[in-house]
Amino acid sequence: MKGQKAIVTGGTRGIGKAIAMALAEQGIDVIITGLNEERANSAAAEIASKGSTCHALRADVSKAKDVEELFKFVTKHFERLDILINNAGITKDNLLLRVKEEDWDAVINTNMKGTYLCTQEAIKMMARQKYGRIVNLSSVVAYIGNPGQTIYSASKAGIIGFTRSVALEYAKRGITVNAIAPGFIKTDMTDRIPEKIKEQILSMIPMGTYGTGKDIAKTVLFLISPDSSYITGQVIHVNGGMFLG
Ligand SMILES: NC(=O)c1ccc[n+]([C@@H]2O[C@H](COP(=O)([O-])OP(=O)(O)OC[C@H]3O[C@@H](n4cnc5c(N)ncnc54)[C@H](OP(=O)(O)O)[C@@H]3O)[C@@H](O)[C@H]2O)c1
Repeated sequence: MKGQKAIVTGGTRGIGKAIAMALAEQGIDVIITGLNEERANSAAAEIASKGSTCHALRADVSKAKDVEELFKFVTKHFERLDILINNAGITKDNLLLRVKEEDWDAVINTNMKGTYLCTQEAIKMMARQKYGRIVNLSSVVAYIGNPGQTIYSASKAGIIGFTRSVALEYAKRGITVNAIAPGFIKTDMTDRIPEKIKEQILSMIPMGTYGTGKDIAKTVLFLISPDSSYITGQVIHVNGGMFLG
């Protein structure tokens, strides 16, 4: 896989950064995106220290114009694209009756529309190359639901339907499209959850520990490797036994 070219959206911290690090360790050149330019640049320097090229770009995946710029950046620096990891995601948690329209729009636009916009651009390059690996980040809550996460779980369930349909459209073109449904992974996103709720979640995990970004990164490495070339349209559950798909 050395020399392949990848995008990791939301690669500036958390799961996305762990994925970008793992790709760089394999000699894969990476572009990471995020909203905070300073954080993106410092993450890119750390990722590049693994020995491959890493560029950072401030790009909001929910905005078609930013995604267009991102793919111009890909063409300029890489000329081709082998791997797209649709990882950028946000939560705006609240009980349904307190959900505001702007929160609904923000989560759906980042998590779902962002995945659609980046995939559409990536597919244009990958279809020409007759090769591509796309991995989308879903979540265990797409399957089990979670009180207070109506918008987020809807967005993550939508990603699964999207993944399956794109996989079928491009199955004959050398492009695989799969999703990963993480359980509870320790990152800034989950650090915000109140301690009491975290304890409840921990009690629901048969392995008795939270997952790490590395657990997700290792699954990504499998899904982009030749070992998984006959796997498409699937969701891989990485959750310590929290939900058995
Ligand atoms: N942590 C978990 O337990 C868990 C479980 C299931 C699924 N997931 C999914 O895994 C993915 C990564 O989660 P995480 O826990 O690593 O989250 P995180 O620590 O909050 O990091 C989110 C990343 O997404 C970027 N981002 C947010 N909005 C963006 C936008 N509009 N355009 C571009 N980038 C944007 C952030 O950039 P900035 O740094 O600039 O803000 C950051 O790099 C998400 O899709 C999440 O839903 C996480």
